Amino acid sequence: MRIVRAKDYQDMSEKAAHMIAEQIRRKPDCVLGLATGSTPEGIYEKLAEWYRAGKLDFARVTTVNLDEYKGLDRGNVHSYYHYMQEKLFARVNIRTDRTFVPDGMAQDSDRACREYDGIIAAAGGVDLQLLGLGHNGHIGFNEPGTDFEIQTHCVNLTESTVRANRRFFSSMEEVPGQAYTMGIGTIMQAAGIVMAVSGEDKAEILKTAVCGPVTTMVPASVLQLHRNVTIIADEAALSLVGNDGQAS
Ligand code: F6R
Repeated sequence: MRIVRAKDYQDMSEKAAHMIAEQIRRKPDCVLGLATGSTPEGIYEKLAEWYRAGKLDFARVTTVNLDEYKGLDRGNVHSYYHYMQEKLFARVNIRTDRTFVPDGMAQDSDRACREYDGIIAAAGGVDLQLLGLGHNGHIGFNEPGTDFEIQTHCVNLTESTVRANRRFFSSMEEVPGQAYTMGIGTIMQAAGIVMAVSGEDKAEILKTAVCGPVTTMVPASVLQLHRNVTIIADEAALSLVGNDGQAS
């Protein structure tokens, strides 16, 4: 596990965006696994900026997103599909038919999940997966207690996750209680993983995930078992982890 220390959110965003840009330059037809939420906004901002400046070409890139709320259609402003259009896809030259986000409106959940895994497999697997870190250690929407082997599935979100997501909605009742997510098994199949973390409020869980035991109760701790993981975090998020990668 490689830990990259960034000064602040801006620096973290730029460093993570650099890794993604390098991946695209090294393999123009690469498959990127993407995340939503507050953390990657600055990363997508940078990628869009470099595209506008002619430094990056998304023409042959494929993307697969980690997750989507169940029950929200693509036109819903709270859907992750909408988020991705707004933050990245509409701002770069990616082919719409090469961007994949789980379908929140799928009638047959099990089938939709198998199909999503099929899309990833058919694309040749994920070259670089971007992750954020939930306050309870979740990655994607894999909540504590989730089996490490599981592939794309439908989950009941924990109360803490629903509460954390409340900020994006106008009321608690509007926050969906279920979501589709790539499983931990799906995520661990990526050739490379970059997890971006920012802020003091993530310091405790980042320390637990990086320095604590590998346990399903802290889903992100599974990353300790992956051979190519980079954690890019700012000083605030890394305040409880020493330069040696041990708890401080
Ligand atoms: C989003 C996702 C989630 C978030 C996590 C952190 O696609 O998979 O695991 O990465 O909840 O969210 P933020 O970045 O909003 O703190």
